[in-house]
This record gives sequence, structure tokens and C-alpha cells, in this order.
Amino acid sequence: MTDSNTPRHFLTVLDLTPEELRGLVRRATELKTAGRSGEAYEPLKNRILGMIFEKSSTRTRVSFEAGMAQFGGHAIFLSPRDTQLGRGEPIEDSARVLSRMVDCVTIRTFAQDTLERFAAFSRVPVINALTDMYHPLQLLADMQTWFEHRGDIKGKTVLWVGDGNNMCHSYINAARQFDFRLRIACPEGYDPEDSVLQRAGTRCEIIRDPMAAAEAVDLVVTDVWASMGQEEEHARREKAFAGYQVNDELMARADREALFMHCLPAHRGEEVTASVIDREDSLVWEEAGNRMHSQKALLEFLLCDPAWTISG
Ligand code: CP
Ligand code: NVA
Repeated sequence: MTDSNTPRHFLTVLDLTPEELRGLVRRATELKTAGRSGEAYEPLKNRILGMIFEKSSTRTRVSFEAGMAQFGGHAIFLSPRDTQLGRGEPIEDSARVLSRMVDCVTIRTFAQDTLERFAAFSRVPVINALTDMYHPLQLLADMQTWFEHRGDIKGKTVLWVGDGNNMCHSYINAARQFDFRLRIACPEGYDPEDSVLQRAGTRCEIIRDPMAAAEAVDLVVTDVWASMGQEEEHARREKAFAGYQVNDELMARADREALFMHCLPAHRGEEVTASVIDREDSLVWEEAGNRMHSQKALLEFLLCDPAWTISG
């Protein structure tokens, strides 16, 4: 935290500096390696993370709960179904109350504005656990996974295939922060938000033809065609995205050493074939596992004296 009245938040990938993000990625790998020794490291003893989830989650919820337990702290799961949030208590009031009781809050919700309003009234750091607009936590894990296998991503070319959704927006922001090029292959009508894209300048471009876009890329990333909250659009989206599947033919266009990532959950036979996601050397399981390590690094950064490593 910068001072006791202004906590640092992680609402988008742009909330940390490029140096801080790189420091987090390094730290995540350190924590992962140290964790294997079995030695306890409990920097968050007696600290509490509140977790508000207005949408389903497996990875984000479990990685935070497990990470907090390993750090000696505790996590409280809060569903709108059984808190006053679901009965219309204003988000600002909830923020003022909860942040007097817990040390950090993570929120998965629909509108980015809800998250921002909570953060504006919170005394403690707030972490975006996914909104319709962004999913920055996934980018920490994806970057960690890339760095662990291929080193620096600066100057590399990443291909996003599919919907210009929350994950795509976070990839655009990550391209700025980590200095990689991003090609976005999406059908017309499903482009990422122009405001997000424009701010990334020339390093991000939309290429309609996914096969052409895949030429020699270093990393291929995709996500579901219908995100949470868009279930009723599924049939329409299936038609629109029909040519936007990550399959063996598309992967063959990419660099020979290209990696494939997916935030999960995946729909085999839709955005990705089983032949790609279930390859023997598929990284998606490690990518999912890295969610916990990278979020532990983030919690440590936001809640402890961050003197540890964050330097160029
Ligand atoms: N990738 C991801 O955020 O997964 P969950 O929806 O299971 O948390
Ligand atoms: N775009 C997906 C990501 C899930 C982790 C969704 O919002 O449902």
C-alpha cells in the first residue's frame, strides 16, 4: 500500500507498473518452487480475504482459498444468494462495512463499474476476480506460464482467437505492459472494445482470417464463445464463431514451438479441439495451477511490505 488511506488495487492489468508485473511473475515462480520444499511460509497469518462471487468459479475461488490457507490466513466466501448484497444493499455500503473486517477483498461480478465503486469505498486492497470487461488474474498466471517455459515475452507475437471478451481485453492490456504484439482473430461484430484496443496502439491488430493471423505466432490463446451471462446467445455465437476454432490446422500455421493457452473451462469441439487441448504436452493444466502461485504473489505484494523483490 502507498499509505494507509489509499490501498493499491488490482482491477486491471494496468494497475501495476510493468516492473511490478514482472516482479510478480518472478515471485510467483519463486513461491511455486519454495512450496515444493514443504516448509511453511505464512506471511498472511491472521489476515483475511473476503471473496464476493456473483458468478460461478472453480479455479479463482479454490486458488485464493488454498493460497490464503498456505499463507497462514483465511478466506471467506460470500455469495449474493446469502448476503445482503443479493437483497440490494448498495455496493458502496458493503465496501465500507467489509473493508473494516477483512484485509483484502476479491470480487467476481458483471459490470466493471460495480468493482470500481466497491474499490472507491474500500479501505483495503480490492482484486478483480473477473468482470464482463477484464480478467487480469488470468493474465498473471498466463505470463508466469510463458516465462517459465520460454523466458521473456517481450517482442513475441501472441494470437487471440475468438471473442473480443474480458480475456481478450486483458490480453490487450498485457501486450502494453509486457511489450508483446497481439493479433486478434475475431468475427465481425465480436471485436474487443475500441477504447481498450486504441490505447494499445499499433502493437495490437485485428485480423479477420484466423489462418492468416496464425502465421508464425509464438502463442495461441482462446476462450469460450459464450461467456458467463451470455448463455442464451450460445446458438447464435456458435454460428458466428464457426471458423474460429483452434485446431491442428491452425496450430500448424503457428511457429513450430508455439504454445497454446486457455483460461478454462473449455468447450472441446467448439473454440478448441480435443487434439489441441489434450495434447500430451498441453500446458493448460500447469497454466491453471499457476493461478494459485501468481495470486499468492499478488496477495503478498498487496498485503505485506512489498520491499521483497519488485525492482526492474
Ligand atoms: N479461468 C478461470 O477464471 O476459471 P474459474 O471460472 O473456474 O475461476
Ligand atoms: N470469458 C469467460 C472466462 C471464464 C474464466 C467468462 O467470462 O465466462
